This record gives sequence, structure tokens and C-alpha cells, in this order.
Amino acid sequence: MPRVIVDGRPVDVAEGALLVAALGLPPVACRSLSGEPRGPLCGMGQCFECRVQLEGREVLACLTPAREGMEVRRG
Ligand code: FES
Repeated sequence: MPRVIVDGRPVDVAEGALLVAALGLPPVACRSLSGEPRGPLCGMGQCFECRVQLEGREVLACLTPAREGMEVRRG
């Protein structure tokens, strides 16, 4: 079971889960660039509402597999 660090907090997710599973349920899974609460809507890379910072770059959590030790910032 991979352990992902989300905003400094450890979160265990199921083996093979996508990163979005570690962010919590909508409506607040991440923040927009202006700080507004956002949550994953489409789950397939179209809405960009699940953007997170992963190791210095922006990724879509709904398309990114969760791996042990990932450190994610929700914005
Ligand atoms: S949930 Fe829509 S892009 Fe990730």
C-alpha cells in the first residue's frame, strides 16, 4: 500500500490507485491558482480541476499513478 505525502501529511492509498485517491473527496481536493477550492470533476484529464504540484512540476492527479514516497502540494 503506497504512502503519499499530501501537504506534509501521510496518506495511504490502495496499490495501483491514482494520485487523486490521496487528495480526499470533493469538493476540496486542491486549490486554483487564485486559492479557490477545487475538486476533481471529470476524472479523465479534461477539466484540470485536480492539478497538484509533484516534485516541482504540475500534474493532473486523476492521470498520475500514486507511488510510494510521492510528495504532493495542493496549491
Ligand atoms: S479530474 Fe478533471 S482533469 Fe483531473
